[in-house]
Amino acid sequence: MRTVRFGLVGSGFMGREFASAAARWMHLPEMTIRPEIVALCTRNPAAPKIDWFREHIPTLRQVTGDYRELLDNPDVEAVYIAVPHHLHEAFYLETFEAGKHLMGEKPFGIDRKANDAILAGIERHPGCFVRCASQYIFFPAIQRMGRMLEQGAFGTILEVNTGFLHSSDLNPEKPINWKRMLEYNGAYGCMGDLGPHACVIPLRAGWVPLSVRAVLSNIMRERPDEHGVRVPCETWDNATLLCDMKDPRSDDVFPFTVRTQRIAPGQKNNWYVEIMGTRASARFTLNDANTLEVLEYEPGGEQAWRRLDMGHEVAYPSITSALFQFGLSDAILQMWGAFLYEFERDGVPHSFARCVTPTESAAWHKLFTAALESHATGATVAVS
Ligand SMILES: NC(=O)c1ccc[n+]([C@@H]2O[C@H](COP(=O)([O-])OP(=O)(O)OC[C@H]3O[C@@H](n4cnc5c(N)ncnc54)[C@H](O)[C@@H]3O)[C@@H](O)[C@H]2O)c1
Repeated sequence: MRTVRFGLVGSGFMGREFASAAARWMHLPEMTIRPEIVALCTRNPAAPKIDWFREHIPTLRQVTGDYRELLDNPDVEAVYIAVPHHLHEAFYLETFEAGKHLMGEKPFGIDRKANDAILAGIERHPGCFVRCASQYIFFPAIQRMGRMLEQGAFGTILEVNTGFLHSSDLNPEKPINWKRMLEYNGAYGCMGDLGPHACVIPLRAGWVPLSVRAVLSNIMRERPDEHGVRVPCETWDNATLLCDMKDPRSDDVFPFTVRTQRIAPGQKNNWYVEIMGTRASARFTLNDANTLEVLEYEPGGEQAWRRLDMGHEVAYPSITSALFQFGLSDAILQMWGAFLYEFERDGVPHSFARCVTPTESAAWHKLFTAALESHATGATVAVS
């Protein structure tokens, strides 16, 4: 078993998810490579919550408040960086300079300029293996949808709708955090945070957004800070984008909608994908995470939606029987399986079994940048 020694930068929600995935690697019995976390960098290493890492990661040898110390650690071979968006550019670029492999986080740079700089850094360091985290592609229903796309099962694409809907910001008393501040989250607002996940399937399908008309909403214009004082909340809460999308294989152009909303009443964490085609259609929502709905059509035949109970049909074999349901932490484990499998073998079992690539991140940056212009001008804007 090959071991890759990891440094973890950021001890928030995603940092803990990686620590948990690494701790139950035995869940993936066919893996011939595994992660071992040896170093952790967080803003405040003395914070009580860092004890959770110390207690649960016996291989952890370095805990520091300075990411450069972690990058200087010769024991660290690869780094997972899960920090606020304004830090992506500097942290990722210095990771490449240090010769470490990287799993970065979306949006992979706070804006297009930062993303361009990160991609230029990757070009300068071709020996670094670099991917971006986004776990929803690994849900069994989406893996099946990916196979359908690879096989051209949909026929002519009629329309694609994706989105990521949250509702917790409907509460005006929810305190502001970095994801609601321009300085840390960036001008994209909810698009930068939720939008990358919503773009993953269409981009992996190879479709190219040609133009966008965007309507962006700043609904809660202020929120309480940590002391209860109301402060400006300037980020976009909700974004609705309508695009011309092109399939370069057929030259067909079809409508693509992407909704990223922090204020979508009743929606806790609903990532969804719908693909409508002349020969087949399919739809998935995290609200019904173990189901794929499929409609297959033969000319003149019935049009009926079938509900497939997906169980644990995964890209990277798991000890969990195929009968049993799949959840978020399983998707995160599969995503890490994909990262290390590709790192070791320079390939993946099929195209939807790959983590997000830096090139895909560049595509969503182009789209969100055009969307900002569309909203500002009220015009349809070319995505280029
Ligand atoms: N893949 C997903 O589903 C998913 C979900 C949530 C967040 N994210 C992404 O993960 C990243 C982090 O988000 P989060 O929700 O974990 O945020 P968080 O606020 O929970 O955690 C951020 C972490 O960054 C650390 N940090 C901040 N400044 C630092 C510095 N100068 N040096 C070292 N560490 C520093 C903080 O200590 C904290 O541990 C973002 O890019 C976000 O978009 C991805």
